[in-house]
Amino acid sequence: MTTTILFVDDEISLHRIINLKFRKKIRTNEWNFIFASNGLEALKKILENSQVSLVITDINMPEMNGLALIEKLNDIDLNIKAVVLSAYSDMNNIRTAMNLGAFDFATKPIDFTDLEVTINRTLEYVQKIRADQQRLQQAQTQLIQSEKMSTLGQLVSGVAHEINNPVSFIGANLYHAEAYINDLINHWRLYERKFPNPGVEIEKNAEEIELEYLLTDLPELISSMKEGTKRISEISTSLRTFSRLDTVEQVSFNIHDGIDSTLLILNHRLKANNKSPAVEIIKEYGDLPLVKCYPGQLNQVFMNLITNAIDALEESNQGSSFADIKANPNKITIRTEVLEGNTSVAIRIKDNGLGMSAEIQEQVFDYLFTTKAVGKGTGLGLSISRQIVEEKHRGKLSCITSPGMGSEFIVEIPIYHTMIR
Ligand SMILES: Nc1ncnc2c1ncn2[C@@H]1O[C@H](COP(=O)(O)OP(=O)(O)OP(=O)(O)O)[C@@H](O)[C@H]1O
Ligand SMILES: [Mg+2]
Repeated sequence: MTTTILFVDDEISLHRIINLKFRKKIRTNEWNFIFASNGLEALKKILENSQVSLVITDINMPEMNGLALIEKLNDIDLNIKAVVLSAYSDMNNIRTAMNLGAFDFATKPIDFTDLEVTINRTLEYVQKIRADQQRLQQAQTQLIQSEKMSTLGQLVSGVAHEINNPVSFIGANLYHAEAYINDLINHWRLYERKFPNPGVEIEKNAEEIELEYLLTDLPELISSMKEGTKRISEISTSLRTFSRLDTVEQVSFNIHDGIDSTLLILNHRLKANNKSPAVEIIKEYGDLPLVKCYPGQLNQVFMNLITNAIDALEESNQGSSFADIKANPNKITIRTEVLEGNTSVAIRIKDNGLGMSAEIQEQVFDYLFTTKAVGKGTGLGLSISRQIVEEKHRGKLSCITSPGMGSEFIVEIPIYHTMIR
């Protein structure tokens, strides 16, 4: 990668000499020099060019001198380091510059061999702090991610567990209740046949309680209660699938279970409301083998991608009526397949929202990049997802999009040590 160095001196002839003396480095694209003739111009160049890593500056210059420039540099970016150029006799200014945060100094008239050593040493330092910073940022993202995961996961799996017990005893009792009710109904029918004229009092009561209706409705009522408990227990299983806390080692996982449990958790955002009809979920599931992975984390990725798709669809609905949206429905298509060579699987999550400009697409995976309002988006979803897919699973997370064409996010996960279902 080319390193950009800003050289600041009001002696313009020096600019040409620098280009000449370091021409080899410039030709091999190792260094790229840009020039300014005073502090003010230098600040402008730094703000225009975010790539600057090092500033070499003279001290005595018109408009803004080198000392004032160094002072300002600290406010702009602590990662840009400065080297001052001055005559040996000017020890006072050199000391002031160092106190203001300059990294090093070189003397005038310039000894270019010495200057090269100084530049190299300074750049090494800049690279080191940038690498440290990146490591710190990654550790921080991971920390936020695992914190989010473990609190959410513990909560969700705790609640799911608590729900399971009462649901299973309601389910078991319903099973008996159904059998008892059938017995009672049969018994009643027997009575009816044996005693067709039970007397006025019983007939009147039968009418009052709408006995015939009650007898036909009761079995239906029981079967709808059974359906309800079945759904609750599916939700509880999904919640537990979603929040699997096995972060220590990889396990064989059915990716489709992960996607389905995520969809179930997001169901409240997918179904119809008074502003828009339900989002259509189109599943095009391929025949996937079990995949060795960290299921809880992979589900987090599906959650982030599907949530983003829903957000994008909601944004595209702005200004459209319920009928408009119904005519051109919101869709999320989820397609899975084994990729050529059978070494990895791909999960594609595609929406028909507004898509993105090339400029936004370039930044979507950046840490803290968001186009959403404060409180709606933190800009962590995709950078965490990329970390989970690419670093934890050695896979790939990419995006295909263009304005007006919706967006498609593609998760590729290596299958490694698979077991066939
Ligand atoms: N499906 C999509 N369609 C259009 N834009 C998208 C889509 N997915 C992501 N983006 C863009 O990428 C940005 C970054 O997404 P990311 O998930 O990292 O953060 P966020 O959704 O803004 O916030 P967070 O996920 O942390 O709540 C979004 O703000 C949005 O501009
Ligand atoms: Mg998001």
